Amino acid sequence: MIRLSILIPLILFICCSESDRNKDSVGVSYKEKHRPQFHFSPEKNWMNNPNGLIFYEGEYHMFYQHNPDANIWGSMHWGHAVSSDLIHWEQLPVALFPDKIGDILSGSVVIDKRNSSGLGTDNQAPMVAIFTQHNDEAEKSGESQYQKQSIAYSLDKGRTWEKYEGNPVLENPGYKDFRDPKVLWHRESRQWIMVLAAFNRIRIYASKNLIDWDYKSEFGKEGDPRLLECPDLFPISVRGTDEIKWILMTGVKDNAPNGGSGTSYRIGNFDGEKFIADTTDEKWLDWGSDNYAFGTWSNLPNPTKRVYGIGWMNNWQYAQEVPTDNWRGSMTLPRELRLYKNNDRYILKSTIVRQFEVLEKEVVVEPNTMDRGQMVFDISSLDQTFKLKADLSNAEEGLDIIFDNANGNALKLRFNPFDNMVYVDRNETTIDKFNENYFTLCKFPYKLGRKASRMELYMDHSSFEIIFDRGIVSFTDVIYPDELFTKLTIRQMGNNSVGNRIKFKSIDGIWE
Ligand code: FRU
Repeated sequence: MIRLSILIPLILFICCSESDRNKDSVGVSYKEKHRPQFHFSPEKNWMNNPNGLIFYEGEYHMFYQHNPDANIWGSMHWGHAVSSDLIHWEQLPVALFPDKIGDILSGSVVIDKRNSSGLGTDNQAPMVAIFTQHNDEAEKSGESQYQKQSIAYSLDKGRTWEKYEGNPVLENPGYKDFRDPKVLWHRESRQWIMVLAAFNRIRIYASKNLIDWDYKSEFGKEGDPRLLECPDLFPISVRGTDEIKWILMTGVKDNAPNGGSGTSYRIGNFDGEKFIADTTDEKWLDWGSDNYAFGTWSNLPNPTKRVYGIGWMNNWQYAQEVPTDNWRGSMTLPRELRLYKNNDRYILKSTIVRQFEVLEKEVVVEPNTMDRGQMVFDISSLDQTFKLKADLSNAEEGLDIIFDNANGNALKLRFNPFDNMVYVDRNETTIDKFNENYFTLCKFPYKLGRKASRMELYMDHSSFEIIFDRGIVSFTDVIYPDELFTKLTIRQMGNNSVGNRIKFKSIDGIWE
């Protein structure tokens, strides 16, 4: 007979959910200082870009750049997590490991439904990952072509992976920076398309089988000194019409509008060979400092009508020094992108996915003081995990929004009506001056007092994301207050008051 003292722990172990077991196994509480409560972050160690975003058989997969051994960049692997709702994540074991060709940098995943690669079986289409391999030794020994593209496949929904034995599938034609393949199936020309960053250009390749690739064209500006990374190319329907446009998105490693890394995009057309932008101007997906290497999920039902994506919430200027301890790096909230057309102008809007509402709870927070033009709220009960919704349409004479605490940490936003800019000052958020590039004044264009000046601000322990006017403008920044913010002050210039137009929601954590 099995003794009860053995049976009870056994039953408890079996009843524990997979994610509980993962958490216990490494002793991670998700309660550490600065730990995001409703954003994805790895249990331990370093994470950067999202990779291989794909929806398959009811699961959203998110692979990510991961160093399993340290909380700084190096020895890159693909970490892996899955979600059924894009909000709650289950951490899975590391998916791809370095080998003699190199470490595993960014890339994408496709479902090879017709088994064009021959890597599947009669009844199982392969999941194929296409990624860069970076050879550190070759780089150190002074070689210049140390980045090549390889593939791996999985027949069990991404749980285990086999590298293709003929790797690499795309040799380096002579670039120091040659990486981050994003692959998509182009229905009209019945072929796979790869977009890839090669220094200041995005190169486009095509293939019938994911193994043999032909160069087709490139996109970029002659003489652009900036390093491009992590491109994404996808079709999107114009809301309310049958028109389809193509978006080419790219990470720009330095010199984004608020310094360092940022994600820009162009709207245009793609014919299976060449991307042609409608206009020459570059647009920014997000005006904050911390939304980089943004990528979109492939294989969603109704793909051109539903575009979901996510970015790495960090900036290469200071990412390796942010003051977190046993882990480093988190993702933005998942976003939905929508394309609108207004008087022949296309407008791409980015909002937080609607699924996020499951975490929101109504709460009433009344201002403690309400002088003429100034309101002060005690927000200590919100534990710095909340959504602030404000209708600012009568604040056209200017507004300050300040979060602070008794420790002297403060985050200040100033809506300036004289230049129609918003200034974001995180200089006083943290006492520890971990990297001077973090301590800068950011700004972005936004004019208050339009018909609709709606602001939604999502505040988590170490970040805030602002969405204006249902996604016309967005701003994402990391912050590391030494203690949680307990007070919110809204100071309004002029005689009107936004007083009764401020609402809070508390946000549940995703790890409990
Ligand atoms: C962008 C990037 C990619 C590369 C990866 C390395 O953040 O530099 O170009 O694949 O990170 O981790």
